[in-house]
Amino acid sequence: MNNNILCIGAGYVGGPTMAMIAYKCHDVNVTIVDINQERIDAWNSDELPIYEPGLEEIVKERRGKNLFFSTNIEQGIIDNDIIFVSVNTPTKTFGHGAGYAADLQYWEKCARHIREVANSDKIVIEKSTLPVRTAAAMARILEHGSKEIKFTVLSNPEFLAEGTAIDDLQNPDRVLIGGPQNEQGKFAIEKLAAIYAQWVDDSKILRTNLWSSELSKLTANAFLAQRVSSINSISALCEQTEADVSEVAHAIGADKRIGPKFLKASIGFGGSCFKKDILNLVYICETYGLTECAEYWKQVVIMNEYQESRFVARMLKAMFNTIAGKKIAILGFAFKADTGDTRESPAIKVCKELLQENAIITISDPQALKSAKKDLADVSNIENIIFEPDPYKAAENAHAIALLTDWKNYKKLDFKKIYDSMEKPAFFFDGRNHIDSDMLYSIGFNVYTIGQTQKTHL
Ligand code: NAD
Ligand code: UGA
Repeated sequence: MNNNILCIGAGYVGGPTMAMIAYKCHDVNVTIVDINQERIDAWNSDELPIYEPGLEEIVKERRGKNLFFSTNIEQGIIDNDIIFVSVNTPTKTFGHGAGYAADLQYWEKCARHIREVANSDKIVIEKSTLPVRTAAAMARILEHGSKEIKFTVLSNPEFLAEGTAIDDLQNPDRVLIGGPQNEQGKFAIEKLAAIYAQWVDDSKILRTNLWSSELSKLTANAFLAQRVSSINSISALCEQTEADVSEVAHAIGADKRIGPKFLKASIGFGGSCFKKDILNLVYICETYGLTECAEYWKQVVIMNEYQESRFVARMLKAMFNTIAGKKIAILGFAFKADTGDTRESPAIKVCKELLQENAIITISDPQALKSAKKDLADVSNIENIIFEPDPYKAAENAHAIALLTDWKNYKKLDFKKIYDSMEKPAFFFDGRNHIDSDMLYSIGFNVYTIGQTQKTHL
């Protein structure tokens, strides 16, 4: 068995995780394959397909040396004995479990492809986020037939967050490896652990059984999202009671048992995984007849949807219950700062609801305008949308600004200049509590933040 690595799936996870392995382990050849030719071409070009701080430097340093991008999946399977599967596992949109279960078709195709093409023993690693007990199905597919080849399936879920992926990969809180608890499984676990051990302390490499590893990934995302929904539910109460959600978050987060992270009230959580993974958890609980557990986790998603709609309702109410024909500048469309990713971004829902009210929206974002265009391509009044990279131009003659992504450079904008160019009364709806509200109010804005008392001149 050789030490060469293949990763099937060159997306937000496959790209950065494998680039990091190539960067840290010069003696290992890493090949990333994908069915999407355009994506592979981009990985091989000067303009990478995803924006992630620090990624470009790593890729450019190792590409062509021990890091390769290709669409030749068959050759990849033949040449490499350690195979990561990092394909997408979106929520199913059809048939049984639609709207909840994970769509495993891409993942299953990979398993079948590996079985068909492989001609030597392989360690197959689930890098994608998968329902608990998927490894059993994967093993059954791989072992089906008459080939005299040993396949060992491991689970090695990824915990990186977009925007901080490179640091997360470089200094992970933990690396989780789940595998069969037999000799063959333990050998495979240690082979994978040895790769990570080249830059991660062994105490942070956790070894578990397969099912604990698979379930830990869904659970971690559910717990993180639950914290955001919890603080967002409190933000609604703060707006009614003159309590300030930032002060509440600070006060509760000072308790070491609670901790300060993931307590930032916001317009709601977005991203490709929180919602999908919780809905998958809900589905799995239901499959095992655990209705109460399913309902418990479902509420995290319901609270998130409430938070997004509440934001638009507040805008509408503040602007005299009509925004038809009014120009609204949207600052930020990505689901969080430092990424061009807009999957499940709250901005999609906010913009669609504003357009339903016949508002004219001017969307600005430093990285996500291309994706924003695709996300809003299906709205009926598309002529009401303007895409404008320059935030100053976006705000000209606007009645309101809605800040939806906490990009750092928004803090540096000249808000006096922006205010002067806007219609009056001018409104500022800060969906991230990102800009100093006292400063905005003193300039003349009517300011609405999340979980805080509004500051208005009206
Ligand atoms: P993605 O959509 O960006 O990338 C998946 C890639 O797999 C695509 O480029 C697609 O073309 C490719 N693909 C699909 N089927 C294929 C096949 N049969 N052969 C070869 N390539 C194929 O998805 P992503 O964001 O990288 O997520 C991948 C997995 O990782 C998901 O399960 C996700 O839940 C999990 N995850 C994502 C993140 C994140 O921050 N995005 C973090 C942790 C875990
Ligand atoms: C999240 C997890 O943090 C990663 O550990 C996990 O690997 C990943 O999902 C995944 O499985 O895909 P990510 O979605 O990239 O990472 O970004 P987060 O930083 O978790 O933010 C998610 C959303 O929650 C964003 O919209 C963010 O703005 C929002 N958020 C986060 C808040 O509203 N408040 C907070 O306090 C924190």
